Amino acid sequence: MSAARRVLGIETSCDDTSAAVLERGVRLRAHLIAAQDVHRLYGGVVPELASRAHLRAVGPVADRALTDAGLALDDVDLIAVTAGPGLVGALLVGVSYAKGLAVATGKPLVGVHHLEGHLFGTELDDPAAVPPFIGLIISGGHTMLLDVPAWGRYRLLGETRDDAVGEAFDKVGALLGLGFPGGPAIERLAAQGDPARWRFPRPMLHGGQQPGDPDYLDLSMSGLKTAVVNTVRGIGDLEAERAHLCRGFQDAVIDVVTRKVVRAVELTDRSRVVLGGGVACNKALRAALAAALAEIGATLHAPSPRISTDNAAMIARAGLFRAAEAGRAVDAEARLPFPGLERS
Ligand code: KG4
Ligand code: ZN
Repeated sequence: MSAARRVLGIETSCDDTSAAVLERGVRLRAHLIAAQDVHRLYGGVVPELASRAHLRAVGPVADRALTDAGLALDDVDLIAVTAGPGLVGALLVGVSYAKGLAVATGKPLVGVHHLEGHLFGTELDDPAAVPPFIGLIISGGHTMLLDVPAWGRYRLLGETRDDAVGEAFDKVGALLGLGFPGGPAIERLAAQGDPARWRFPRPMLHGGQQPGDPDYLDLSMSGLKTAVVNTVRGIGDLEAERAHLCRGFQDAVIDVVTRKVVRAVELTDRSRVVLGGGVACNKALRAALAAALAEIGATLHAPSPRISTDNAAMIARAGLFRAAEAGRAVDAEARLPFPGLERS
């Protein structure tokens, strides 16, 4: 089992049905992501529709990944599937499908924690994205700053007190009539916005905080979101202000996230920061993080957009590690909560 070389990864935790075939931990032989556009009609992910779409897509997507890799199911040594966290019904589709494959073929099955997957994904694009590092997971559901001295060891340094960063982008996007998901649309408009027109609060940055203070590395998005809501209420011509509002909001998020990451690096003396999660697609955030880290002698390691948002390649990569770690097949449900996570 620890000698697993080829892994079939499956991810169905939210609204992307994805399958990947990974060889020897880093060589991606095939990778498909079938995104579900249906949720755009409703302004957010509708769990029941997500489960149904996964049910239709998971078999063909997994088959296609094997075909693209030029392999038969028998050539795979391990099946890895996202066990959680995510939408219960959506997860169940992937886990049931993966269990079916495992039972039918006698191949070992490993359940992967979705967030551990996001940490592992970046290495597929950037070989230097390996521990020790500070991990920043910023997605639609999670915002976490972690110290990662070694794979499998995760110390939680900070997390959001309320909304995840991606969730804040989605809520502000909805408020501004930009559809779902809000992140990419806000980034596009912000590029045309005037940075001096609206200045929004930077939550959890001020107040004489020191390392050890509970707020030092935690984040909060709800005050910023409320400030945008209140501003929008007072605006007559939203059309004329939309891009400027996007810029003001995005700049506030970038400022808070960047300063928290710099604090985490200074506190731990790590020299690398590994980014993961859908918000990692944001180029303005990446540029700001890279510049701030360069000033303190650290480097940013960010995944490509395909590996930033939910995908099976990262699940395959984390699955190989987990399988080798356990030395035996692990039950899909056994990997929750976040394996190896300690709170500081
Ligand atoms: O990791 P992900 O695909 O799904 C979760 O596990 O949540 O992340 C999706 C999130 C959404 O909130 C979306 O708005 C955000 O990532 N996102 C972005 C950008 N692209 C995606 N946020 C800001 N800027 C972007 N360019
Ligand atoms: Zn995710």
